Amino acid sequence: MTQDELKQLVAREAIKYVVEDAIVGVGSGSTADFFIDELAKIKNRIAGAVASSEKTAARLKGYGIRVLELNSVDELPVYIDGADEITQHLHMIKGGGGALTREKIVAAVAKKFVCIADESKLVPVLGEFALPVEVIPMARSYCARQMVKLGGNPRLREGFTTDNGTVIIDVSGLKILNPPELEAKINNIPGVVTNGLFALRGADVLLLGTASGVKKMGSE
Ligand code: A5P
Repeated sequence: MTQDELKQLVAREAIKYVVEDAIVGVGSGSTADFFIDELAKIKNRIAGAVASSEKTAARLKGYGIRVLELNSVDELPVYIDGADEITQHLHMIKGGGGALTREKIVAAVAKKFVCIADESKLVPVLGEFALPVEVIPMARSYCARQMVKLGGNPRLREGFTTDNGTVIIDVSGLKILNPPELEAKINNIPGVVTNGLFALRGADVLLLGTASGVKKMGSE
């Protein structure tokens, strides 16, 4: 099976977690795109969706799925999104596509976070994938220096601006042994909007696409 086929497999499986007549939170990235394609097939059975990026909103609208502002939604039973890396503890690195802040906000509101990923994303320790850190442009250099102090190697994502008008520093070289602690520490640096560690609020369920089928981890 190709990586795309594995992504499609878990995207299909994730439909089982969508609650009928409710609003569903939808993530960003190529795996989430496959999920949107599946969601389109059952669009008449949902009340609508909340999107974690402009790109996702556009794809949902393209299928005629109603997209709601998060502020107008009281309850979000489930949020479905991919990850760049995930551990067996369901801690993740996200933000490869640059939508980390909105993803984190929607995930915070949702009752259940279902992560969908192909097996290449499961790692023993986070940090091989450079950690995206979203920062206010005027704090870019300061935040980069703070990342060096934490043992990282920061690099500005050239020519990229987030949906929030901010920039991203990708930090490589971090061996992240305590994800919740590092997540909080980086978020405390003035100028940081948020970082791509999703550990304080990790996933509840992981649907992992493997050659032998979908492996489920976590609790329902
Ligand atoms: C987007 O900002 C990310 O958090 C994505 O969820 C992550 O990059 C996974 O993307 P793919 O599904 O394309 O690998």
